[in-house]
Amino acid sequence: MSDDDKRLAAEAAVEEVRDGMLVGLGTGSTAAHAITAIGRRAAEGLRIRAVATSLASAEQARGLGIEVLDFASVAAVDLTIDGADEIDRHLLAVKGAGGAMLREKAVAAASARMIVIADGSKRVERIGSAKLPVEVLPFARASVLARLGALFDSVERRDGGDYRTDNGNLVADCTGWRGADPQALAVMLQAIPAVVGHGLFLDEVDAAYIAANGVVTRLERGDASG
Ligand code: A5P
Repeated sequence: MSDDDKRLAAEAAVEEVRDGMLVGLGTGSTAAHAITAIGRRAAEGLRIRAVATSLASAEQARGLGIEVLDFASVAAVDLTIDGADEIDRHLLAVKGAGGAMLREKAVAAASARMIVIADGSKRVERIGSAKLPVEVLPFARASVLARLGALFDSVERRDGGDYRTDNGNLVADCTGWRGADPQALAVMLQAIPAVVGHGLFLDEVDAAYIAANGVVTRLERGDASG
């Protein structure tokens, strides 16, 4: 994993930001590079407004002079740039190591285009090795954890149960999908009422910029065959 590669991927994606856009700002160390690059372009005169997928990203952006809108009042976003924990050539992704997956998905779903940025360590043949974060309503903790335990080999409450998302919910980090394909797993997770979000991004990602050893590769949805 290289911070230079994260920055290169981020800067390549930020080239897609155009004057007048409403931009979705992702969360995490790679997205932080994108926010820095957007802030730099805004300081040079690019007129953009933004929504943020986490309180931390909103704070970083405001600190750089970027106007950050309340997403509750925004119906559509032009372009969102965000990191990922795993991404494959079909642009299926796992997100949420930073705990922001629910807001990230809400913003991605409202976006005309969503770009993942990552260093080469995130590129995988097939998603499923990284921990899959599941956001759980604390009210229903025990019953949801029991249901997750039937779907995964291992279910760990993040920070021993002390972790809370920006939405006030807890996170279960789940490993070992027991053979379920991602689409089937997403359906099973969504069928648990007090699961309020999870890190499977199966339809949201339109493109990815992945940097490895200083070389940036762009993947577009539909490019991969087979
Ligand atoms: C935040 O919840 C995540 O989805 C991040 O976008 C993802 O974990 C990638 O983070 P890094 O860029 O820090 O690896």
